[in-house]
Amino acid sequence: MRIGVLTGGGDCPGLNAVIRAVVRKGVQDYDHDFIGFRDGWRGPLHGTVVPLGIPAVRGILPRGGTILGSSRTNPLKEADGVRRIKENLAAHEVDALIAIGGEDTLGVAARLHDEHGVRCVGVPKTIDNDLSATDYTFGFDTAVNIATEAIDRLHTTAESHMRVLVVEVMGRHAGWIALHSGLAGGANVILVPERPFDLDEVCDWVTSRFRASYAPIVVVAEGAVPKDGDLVLKNASARDSFGHVRLSGVGEWLAEEIERRTGKEARTTVLGHVQRGGTPSAFDRWLATRFGLHAIEAVDDGAFGSMVALRGPDIVRVPLAEATARIKTVPAALYEEARVFFG
Ligand code: F6P
Repeated sequence: MRIGVLTGGGDCPGLNAVIRAVVRKGVQDYDHDFIGFRDGWRGPLHGTVVPLGIPAVRGILPRGGTILGSSRTNPLKEADGVRRIKENLAAHEVDALIAIGGEDTLGVAARLHDEHGVRCVGVPKTIDNDLSATDYTFGFDTAVNIATEAIDRLHTTAESHMRVLVVEVMGRHAGWIALHSGLAGGANVILVPERPFDLDEVCDWVTSRFRASYAPIVVVAEGAVPKDGDLVLKNASARDSFGHVRLSGVGEWLAEEIERRTGKEARTTVLGHVQRGGTPSAFDRWLATRFGLHAIEAVDDGAFGSMVALRGPDIVRVPLAEATARIKTVPAALYEEARVFFG
């Protein structure tokens, strides 16, 4: 069989580990051959391909980013997008596609399979960890480790100056990175998109922390919103082809408000794409490799329209459509657990 591989959406550590595992097992165990499509769905749409054999995947296990490139191209919004993809797959004699992506990339794979008969298998990735069908996505653990290390460092400088330090982390609809890194890093306030925050309460927590002679660390997810306000954005007009606004801005706004209301000096650190770059953690390499091995097995079994997912210790197959139907958000009870450390 000839199999196409693509990586779409925001990149994340572990993408290359999946590609390596798919190709190694596919060539060694099944004698398949592979081509890489460049830059997410843009590749199949424009027919841009690169060779993808064992030599191409040598040494890439610890490398961040993706050797195939990525983009947020939505082919379903392009005139004749489906027809062009089908023609390009046929031109390159591709029998099946492995799409590695988050809700948007895999949402396209689900529709191409269910509505247009394109033979796709999905692999879930996102640092946000917000795909409902899988316990974890790879990339998340690395992002949490990076954010935790940053929080550890910010504690010492905050205490030297007795300032508030606001740390803005990624998390569009879900506060998983904020919650995990905030707990691991001993933050004094954690704000997530799932729970609109009360600015008066945040200022009370900050003030009580100073009273105990400590400098507070506030971790805020970029998608968190104040109770009686809207999403704070630096650039409200920028949108990608899936219609998502470009987030970031709440951290700076929060520091200004805290300083104005409490009279305490406040600074902001926006971690941004540092959370997505560089080498994957051991856990992410392990998970990404297992996802890759199971994805190629699913292709070989003809299990098209499915996505591989982690459930407990097992990798299982779930229908792509079901996997992309809902976002996995932080449950209220889990957030409540962390509140004992606030203030
Ligand atoms: O979807 C993953 C993610 O890192 C989000 O946390 C973030 O909001 C978004 O991507 C940023 O996207 P971009 O790199 O396209 O600005």
